[in-house]
Amino acid sequence: MDFELSEAQRLFREMAREFATKEVAPQAQRIDEEGVFPHELVKRMGELGFLGIAVPQEYGGAVADNVCYVLALEEISRACASTGVIMSVNNSLVCDPLLQFATEEQKQKYLTPLASGRFLGCFALSEPNAGSDAANQQTVARKEGESYILNGTKNFTTNGLEADVAIVFATLGRGFGHKGITAFLVEKETPGFTVAKVEKKLGIKGSSCVQFLLDHVRVPKENLLGKEGEGFKVAMSTLDGGRIGIAAQAVGIAQAVLDMAADYAKQRVQFDRPIASFQAIQFMLADMAVEVEAARLLTYRAALLKDKGVRHTKEAAMAKLFASETAMRAAVKGLQILGGYGYMMDYPAQRYLRDAKITEIYEGTSEIQRLVIAKYLLG
Ligand code: CAA
Repeated sequence: MDFELSEAQRLFREMAREFATKEVAPQAQRIDEEGVFPHELVKRMGELGFLGIAVPQEYGGAVADNVCYVLALEEISRACASTGVIMSVNNSLVCDPLLQFATEEQKQKYLTPLASGRFLGCFALSEPNAGSDAANQQTVARKEGESYILNGTKNFTTNGLEADVAIVFATLGRGFGHKGITAFLVEKETPGFTVAKVEKKLGIKGSSCVQFLLDHVRVPKENLLGKEGEGFKVAMSTLDGGRIGIAAQAVGIAQAVLDMAADYAKQRVQFDRPIASFQAIQFMLADMAVEVEAARLLTYRAALLKDKGVRHTKEAAMAKLFASETAMRAAVKGLQILGGYGYMMDYPAQRYLRDAKITEIYEGTSEIQRLVIAKYLLG
């Protein structure tokens, strides 16, 4: 067993750390306060290869692996979790299923611009009545000649406002259950495909989250992603990778909290001593450090399994569950260490807390991760 990163992985992390420190971190507070999508940073991520990290060169990607992906995503999320999720959706939820399920023509047409940053993508699975119960799709795809006509509503789609293309899931008939679900590549400009609502969120305010309406959206059969009825498998296997990304995002947030709290504890003097000299503070920092490291190792392991082509459903669920709950616990403790200052908007503690919370919810709640893990334990 080898816990060392390769030279290429260390260099990739260095590149991401430099970008995150010099370009992302200085903008994080403004992005959060103004709730603005960081167009310039997303453009830079495209130039640096961060939008298609594990995509081969022939499709405009960075030719790196999934371990590099989690290393970079941790660094960027440590600076700004909004920028992290924009990157994560494009890589995990869009480029990855295209790599796995798209035809050569679809790869040329969509994957290449997505991986190189010319396009941005989104993943439209959730619906008003299909959140945790993803198989309960009510968006319907009706075959008509050489096309499909899609009708329905999609909820909570990250990147939905800025995306050029969406992976949309729909059922060929509710009676088929999950075996009727089919995935489609839908261009944003397709008539009938509209943003019905832009959500106002508690955190990750720089990323968009929208509700889509599909009103007789005609999608050519060439835009079927995978086969008819294969959509649930496309969604679930995509989410296996997505959950590794969210784990990395959560590790980044937790590390940011730890750094902030340790720095503050060394500076802040009370009772004539830096508060870092009190065991009450030391124990909180030590617990945080252990959990962050454990979450990071679970995340690396899941990414490594994905690189090896090994099924990683359970490991991705474990990494996401533990890392997201670590981020929340760290955010609560970190804010407490900063005391009254932690509660004020001038300090980032409140942003970390708001951003950490979503990692326990999107791409499968903590409860869904526990169900997935339990299924493996109990058969
Ligand atoms: N990979 C491949 N296939 C899988 C799979 C996986 N990880 N998980 C399940 N399947 C297959 C099963 O093998 C089964 O296939 P067969 O019928 O051929 O045997 C089929 O899918 C159905 O499996 P289940 O009976 O286990 O399915 P279920 O209906 O009980 O659902 C679930 C299981 C785990 C609860 C699933 O619905 C789930 O993950 N729910 C959460 C959804 C989710 O994460 N949503 C987030 C959306 S994205 C988002 O957050 C927005 C964003 O923009 C960031």
